[in-house]
Amino acid sequence: MNESADSSDRVLPRHIAVVMDGNGRWANKRHLPRAAGHKAGVGSTRKIVENCVTRNIEALTIFAFSSENWNRPASEVSSLMSLFVSTITSEVRKLHKKDVCVKFIGDRSRFSAKLQNSINESEDLTKDNTGLHFNIAANYGGRWDVVNACKSLFDDLTKNHGVIQDIDEKIFNSYMSLSEVPAPDLFIRTGGEQRISNFLMWQLAYSELYFIDTLWPDFSDDDFDRALDWFVSRQRRFGKTGQQVLDEQSA
Ligand code: FPP
Repeated sequence: MNESADSSDRVLPRHIAVVMDGNGRWANKRHLPRAAGHKAGVGSTRKIVENCVTRNIEALTIFAFSSENWNRPASEVSSLMSLFVSTITSEVRKLHKKDVCVKFIGDRSRFSAKLQNSINESEDLTKDNTGLHFNIAANYGGRWDVVNACKSLFDDLTKNHGVIQDIDEKIFNSYMSLSEVPAPDLFIRTGGEQRISNFLMWQLAYSELYFIDTLWPDFSDDDFDRALDWFVSRQRRFGKTGQQVLDEQSA
């Protein structure tokens, strides 16, 4: 069985990927600066991490900052960077106590030395933890990930005098971000938009896609439960027919 089962023997996703959209609109509705929406969004992030820990979900990957988010107004980018540093500083010890392994994916070289230090320290502190794999995509883009994997693969191939015929999907995947965890079974996007927005394009190939209108700061425990209920109701076919899947389940 690929997924993890909960106490009622439902087959839950092993890996959940989340686009936390709607922080800005949440703030606008309250006549607050957009930064207040991002700050409120941290509360929902904390809740979903706790819910994943409680349910023994293997991996959670969140989209905190895309490669394209640099195009936002400088003041918003700067407040997001400060929020990342303060959130990592205030949360990482609590995550460590819960046996959570924190990892950042994306190109961190563009971040300030202070943020890079916080990222490195949080990864270092939690690297041997065996509980939830909590992956934070920061300055991440799905296309960047593919190009980055191609560069590393080409580099290794050249050094080891390998040939192109040696490459298959499994080998290519080992060069992609998140190769140490199974591909996401469930993708959740809040905020009403129905798109992937250059998130984990390679890794989401067979994920179940769940979109809800709720703005990220309003995302509740009940919303999470509803997403899991929806996931449990899906028949995952991976290219087979529905009848084949039913036959396999009853075998
Ligand atoms: C998208 O909403 C949200 C973001 C770009 C930032 C999300 C970041 C956090 C919740 C902080 C998490 C921090 C850590 C360290 C894990 P939006 O601004 O695009 O909302 P809008 O569509 O309503 O404008």
